[in-house]
Amino acid sequence: MKHSFLRINTLSAVLLAMTAQVMAQEPTPPYLDDNQPIEVRVEDALSRMTLKEKIAIIHAQSKFSSPGCPRLGIPELWMSDGPHGVRMEFVWDNWDHADWTNDSCTAYPALTCLAATFNPELAFKYGNAIGQEARYREKDVILGPGVNIYRTPLSGRNFEYMGEDPYLSSRMVAPYVKGMQQNGVAACLKHFALNNQEKDRDKINVEVSDRALYEIYLPAFKAGVQEGGVWTVMGSYNKFRGQYCSHNDLLINQILKKDWGFDGVMMTDWGSAHDTDEAARNGLDLEMGSWTNGLTWGLSSAYDDYYLAQPFLKKIESGELPESLLDEKVRRVLRLTFRTSMNRNRPYGCKLTPEHAEIARKIAEEGIVLLKNENHFFPIEKGRYQKIAVIGENAVKQLSLGGGSSELKPQKEISPLEGMIEKYGKEHILFTLGYASGEPNYSNELPSGLDADSLVQEALKVAREADVVLFFGGLNKNFQQDCEGDDRRSMDLPFGQNELIEKIIQVNPNTGVILISGNAVSMPWLSQIDGLMQSWYLGSQAGTATANIICGEANPSGKLPFSIPVKLEDNSAHYFGAESYPGVNGTQYYKDDILVGYRWHDTKKIDPLFPFGYGLSYTTFQYGKARTDKKTYRADESVKISFTLKNTGDTPGAETVQVYMSQKKPSVLRPVKELKGFKKVFLQAGEEQVVEIEIPVRSFAFYDEQTADWKLENDSYSLHVASSSKAIQATAKIQVKN
Ligand code: BGC
Repeated sequence: MKHSFLRINTLSAVLLAMTAQVMAQEPTPPYLDDNQPIEVRVEDALSRMTLKEKIAIIHAQSKFSSPGCPRLGIPELWMSDGPHGVRMEFVWDNWDHADWTNDSCTAYPALTCLAATFNPELAFKYGNAIGQEARYREKDVILGPGVNIYRTPLSGRNFEYMGEDPYLSSRMVAPYVKGMQQNGVAACLKHFALNNQEKDRDKINVEVSDRALYEIYLPAFKAGVQEGGVWTVMGSYNKFRGQYCSHNDLLINQILKKDWGFDGVMMTDWGSAHDTDEAARNGLDLEMGSWTNGLTWGLSSAYDDYYLAQPFLKKIESGELPESLLDEKVRRVLRLTFRTSMNRNRPYGCKLTPEHAEIARKIAEEGIVLLKNENHFFPIEKGRYQKIAVIGENAVKQLSLGGGSSELKPQKEISPLEGMIEKYGKEHILFTLGYASGEPNYSNELPSGLDADSLVQEALKVAREADVVLFFGGLNKNFQQDCEGDDRRSMDLPFGQNELIEKIIQVNPNTGVILISGNAVSMPWLSQIDGLMQSWYLGSQAGTATANIICGEANPSGKLPFSIPVKLEDNSAHYFGAESYPGVNGTQYYKDDILVGYRWHDTKKIDPLFPFGYGLSYTTFQYGKARTDKKTYRADESVKISFTLKNTGDTPGAETVQVYMSQKKPSVLRPVKELKGFKKVFLQAGEEQVVEIEIPVRSFAFYDEQTADWKLENDSYSLHVASSSKAIQATAKIQVKN
């Protein structure tokens, strides 16, 4: 026994000595050494790579991965959509689901809902939760969040974005990115830029003024880069001023990289590269998902046909393009790799935890917007009615599916009907479909196979029997609804819902509507109902959150992140006809310029049906007078505006107070008001608080096209404390003097 113990000891000593000798000969190369600064590791790895390896690392090797550098032990980068959860797995080389059994996720509410919470702390938790799930699923990059501005209610992807206001989306995007990236998982800001419609997205050329670009369409991207510190950005499919956005010199080289100092990876959308020279010179770092010539489709060699693959290599070898262009791209991909897949300190992640479910529920509850509540329609307290009719397909449709790349495979998705049954008891709920839309199908809407008339008749029968009717309708993720690849055809509710709602009201006037969508819809029946909620694609906890709000266990506090116009022509993008939306002969002019959303409604005096920032509560709030800490400010100072806010009702609740700025005598056209600050304040029944909001004076500037810079004019400015963009509660005036 003793003898063998000695032998083992001797053996280990020999082995140790040998290892030490090897190690002495070959010290850990700097790129593998965690203690080295990232830039040292990047330069070291770059210097060891062959030309072919460098080319390989800047384009895809499969639908969702890039290859790394196997010879040097540099791992692949794995990506997944985004932005509402970690998407299901795909087969290596095409768009077929892999049908794994371990790729389900928590589905979080759509980004419209997150924006409606007006709660940046929830944005941080949201990003962190997805980061954790992504990490557990071994993803290095999550393809989101999306921060394109909501310009038209027809855009098929508005549900993936954060509304119409650049300030609101900026405040929400930065914490989302930080929350996610603290897990060693990169967020990817998309779609850079001006992808404000899905119709003709892969070819439309957007013409927009510099002023609108800087004031409306870029701020959220800038915030994601500079405040969030995002590690990747995705180019959009469309063109801007005649050049594809994914290799657009002005957007990428000048603005993103030079002006904003972005040091991460600029990647394509899937198949958004179109030219090797432009891709090489105009700042594109990583090419994903390109379609190939069709002949090599699906073969491994297809990836060689990418613009940044063999064609780029050939141009470098022939001297047509300098290798330094390639090196700069490789540096960025390596930097991303060291931040993510080669970051040994990143946490392991977790998925489907009770905390994830809680976060999803909380965001859903805080995002639901109460739009109309007369005669105490809501809340519907338990026991108030014997029979509650739940009518409408959206009460049962699995809304995490469909919609394009943001589709999810949630481990569970509690439907509104399940939530209502759980809350009120099966015996009190009568359910019927009312209408049917068919399966989400990417290119075409399939008929549902159910007879529309019978569904209506059954709905009316149920409505008659019930004490109260809750209609769960809206849009869904079918093609040409809230779905990528095309826009809605009109602002009307689809699948005969308007007619159905009118008929239901006839047989039971005690009817309320819960709209589930990511876009504004027209509401011809609005004056005939007492209760209306704007809900969203709420994800895994949809039913629980919805029922909590309906029964009053949670008090609604969401505010609209976009204006709801009375009719489509009242919306800024549509007002100017086809040249402005959807474009003519391949080009569109954003004639609404800086007047997007409430900026348009206010300035043109076109009343919306419901304004941006609007949302009711089950309690009431009283605002006191607004005061500022001083009367006159310099550009580098901040205004501290304060006022009292009191919960004057008998339930705890939260109010999102908003501060809008108006300039008195601007030398250029300015919107009547612009959002510059907000705070969500939680108050117990009867509680009063002094609320203080700090606003940098510099944020009052406009973008001056003459000097190509921001300009802050000496003038008098009003700061409006408001409960929506239309409801000013108190105003304070200040002077800016430099
Ligand atoms: C979408 C992107 C998405 C990508 C990968 C594209 O069609 O526009 O948002 O991340 O596919 O699924």
